[in-house]
Amino acid sequence: MKLIFLGPPGAGKGTLAAKAVDLVKAPHISTGNIFRAAIAAQSPLGLKVKSILDSGQLVDDETTIGLVKERLAEADVQCGYILDGFPRTIPQAEALAGFSTVDRVVNFDIPDTSVLERLGGRRTCRGCGKNFHIVFGKPKQEGICDHCGGELYTRDDDREEAIKKRLEVYREQTAPLIDYYRKKGILADVDARPAVETVVENFKKSLGL
Ligand code: AP5
Repeated sequence: MKLIFLGPPGAGKGTLAAKAVDLVKAPHISTGNIFRAAIAAQSPLGLKVKSILDSGQLVDDETTIGLVKERLAEADVQCGYILDGFPRTIPQAEALAGFSTVDRVVNFDIPDTSVLERLGGRRTCRGCGKNFHIVFGKPKQEGICDHCGGELYTRDDDREEAIKKRLEVYREQTAPLIDYYRKKGILADVDARPAVETVVENFKKSLGL
């Protein structure tokens, strides 16, 4: 199944995608993770996008579309994928339609108050990128990743100013995609407010799994 995960920053898209990989048997592709890996590697792409991510703005469409087009040409995603964080603008959605046919778009619905709470408490592993939360998803040992033993840190774009900017950018540029995909008849709404286990159940119901 070819899926898009849509929703505001901090809605839980990455957390759900990590669980959905086994449910839909498809790889998780996160454009945010691709950019953060490039920044960590200090590659030309990373150097170009670091200040953009830190400020909560979007990377330009041309760069982002090129990356995703290349990734979706790889063998492991020909039968399915979970696209998390792409598309984020109407031009990105239109470009995607030119090189892949999406089956369903899952829209994770959550109010701003929950976004602030979730992103303010998020801790991310420097090694494997897995997310934890200081209240809702504590690691076994404080500051250490349960999976790879890496150091947990606060993303630069999880500071209050950047979160506000990301929400603004989401409303202006990404939220119009909800109607765009609803009109195409492939949008499924999921209530993302409850605990992770309940969101997983809501997700399964929304896709009839
Ligand atoms: P990206 O990494 O995609 O950021 P995002 O969309 O803002 O999403 P997040 O990763 O912040 O949140 P999430 O919904 O995955 O939530 P999570 O599961 O972590 O993009 C980063 C940047 O890259 C962008 O700002 C932009 O600059 C650039 N970029 C990326 N894609 C781009 C594109 N297509 N075009 C242009 N630029 C692009 O959960 C959050 C926290 O809540 C965690 O701590 C988690 O443990 C906790 N949590 C999750 N679910 C629950 C729950 N049900 N209950 C309680 N806590 C929960």
